[in-house]
Amino acid sequence: MTDPRTAPLERKYRLTAPLYDILDWPWERHYRRWRPDIVGDLEGRVLEVGVGTGRNLPHYSSRATVEALDLSEAMLSRARRRAAQAPCPVELRRADALSLDQVPDESVDWYIATFLYCVLPDELQPPSLAEMSRVLRPGGRFRLVEILYSKKPGRRLVQRLFAPFVRRVYGARFNRRTREHIERTPGIDVTSTRWLEGDTHLLIEGRRVGPIG
Ligand SMILES: C[S@@+](CC[C@H](N)C(=O)[O-])C[C@H]1O[C@@H](n2cnc3c(N)ncnc32)[C@H](O)[C@@H]1O
Repeated sequence: MTDPRTAPLERKYRLTAPLYDILDWPWERHYRRWRPDIVGDLEGRVLEVGVGTGRNLPHYSSRATVEALDLSEAMLSRARRRAAQAPCPVELRRADALSLDQVPDESVDWYIATFLYCVLPDELQPPSLAEMSRVLRPGGRFRLVEILYSKKPGRRLVQRLFAPFVRRVYGARFNRRTREHIERTPGIDVTSTRWLEGDTHLLIEGRRVGPIG
């Protein structure tokens, strides 16, 4: 059953899915250079949330076992072909980042989400990050990739021009406060951040510390 809080996103991605890879192509030309760095070194049990059309899947190594989740069946059906190209076992499943019910506490080594948290509204980030904290084993790690507004006026202006399209088609915003939400989530810490491009595409890495309480 769909959570009323995320039903609008599911509807949006049902419409976007057939055209997603075509619409995203100008950006994916850049992203595909980064994806091997984001997931290629992961080992153990990986939970990828908001897997979309599966763009990361071919870049995992054979040392990972991936459970790949998405809210949208339409997006998952497009991820199947890429799951078949992955060098590791991949299980695709419909699930909402806000309630990862079928994932036991402290059971995953890695939580990966690329371009999910710029889609998730700020008010939905705390419950989703609490779920991330719950499912990561102590010492388990996460990597999130975010898009943010640039501080450079020219770049920011271009982003502002694209913002209505990005909002309408993907539900994404460039002003989500993901890092603040992570810092307020019990049991997880940010260990590093790295710009993948300019000051707009940020890789946030962190880990699960101690008991959640
Ligand atoms: C912008 S796409 C990113 C896809 C992919 N991660 C990538 O790097 O290309 C965002 C994806 O997150 C999914 N999504 C949105 N809200 C979600 C939620 N609450 N739980 C799980 N997936 C969600 C969407 O269906 C969509 O496939």
